Amino acid sequence: MPFHGEHQSGITKPPLAPQQQGIFAAYDVTAKNRSELTHLFHTLTERARFLTSGGPAQPDPHSSGSGLHRINTFVWAHPPSPEPAWTTGGTYQVIRIVRFHLDEWNQVPVAQQQKIIGRHKVTGIPLNGGTNENSPVVYDPQGEVMPFNCHIRLANPQTVDSRFSAPNPYVRDKVPPVHIWRRSYQYMRAPDINGRMDAGHAFCCFQRKLSTYIDMQQRLENEMLVPFITPTGGGYFFALPGVTGDQDYYARALLT
Ligand code: HEM
Repeated sequence: MPFHGEHQSGITKPPLAPQQQGIFAAYDVTAKNRSELTHLFHTLTERARFLTSGGPAQPDPHSSGSGLHRINTFVWAHPPSPEPAWTTGGTYQVIRIVRFHLDEWNQVPVAQQQKIIGRHKVTGIPLNGGTNENSPVVYDPQGEVMPFNCHIRLANPQTVDSRFSAPNPYVRDKVPPVHIWRRSYQYMRAPDINGRMDAGHAFCCFQRKLSTYIDMQQRLENEMLVPFITPTGGGYFFALPGVTGDQDYYARALLT
């Protein structure tokens, strides 16, 4: 994967094959002074450059036109913004480790599972249709087809999303569409001390503004999925801007 570029390329660029695995490592750093910290970031940059091809950044192959515009607008920090200038090209990262109670979930009939998520289990199509411009959207003012508190509807109400006719019949209160870049993974650990499976969702997303995620998470507080999940950890991080060339290094704009 190309290393040099305005942004850290691994964040939005998919690898050649769908990414099955990811590693999230968090650690505290103590340094006596700025030059020690700068030395550390130099070292981190060299290691990361060594682990990749180190070539120039390529245009994003899977995203052009409006897709690329949306990534540029909603994922990467850029002016005008209340954030400091050194953040430009970086992005806020959210990690939320959510244990999924699969024993209970597997007892739920598929039709109900679909209502809880808001999508057909096999095809992934939203219960109200509307996967592309020509798909009919079911008018459902009572939330009978796609419950108001299903996962995808609360996560992304899509009030003015082009996939839906406007005004969106599924939203009672107008909520702006939300854009986050999701890069989640499933996880499975050794069974807990009661012998119950410890598996779930390592939710990961990137966005220019942390508030986009926080608003979304607050909407999800009363979603139908709640009885089946338990958040166990996570945090907010800032993914630094990319390393633009041989002389550049992580956090240079912050440290100089
Ligand atoms: C146990 C935790 C979670 C599970 C099992 C889960 C599962 C799903 C599933 C099955 C979908 C539909 C398929 C897809 O688009 O990938 C989905 C969509 C989505 N989820 Fe989650 N999710 C979880 C946590 C979260 C969290 C914590 C957030 C954000 C706060 C979130 C935000 C979204 C968004 C924005 C969508 C796309 C909605 C749309 O269709 O526009 N999810 N999730």
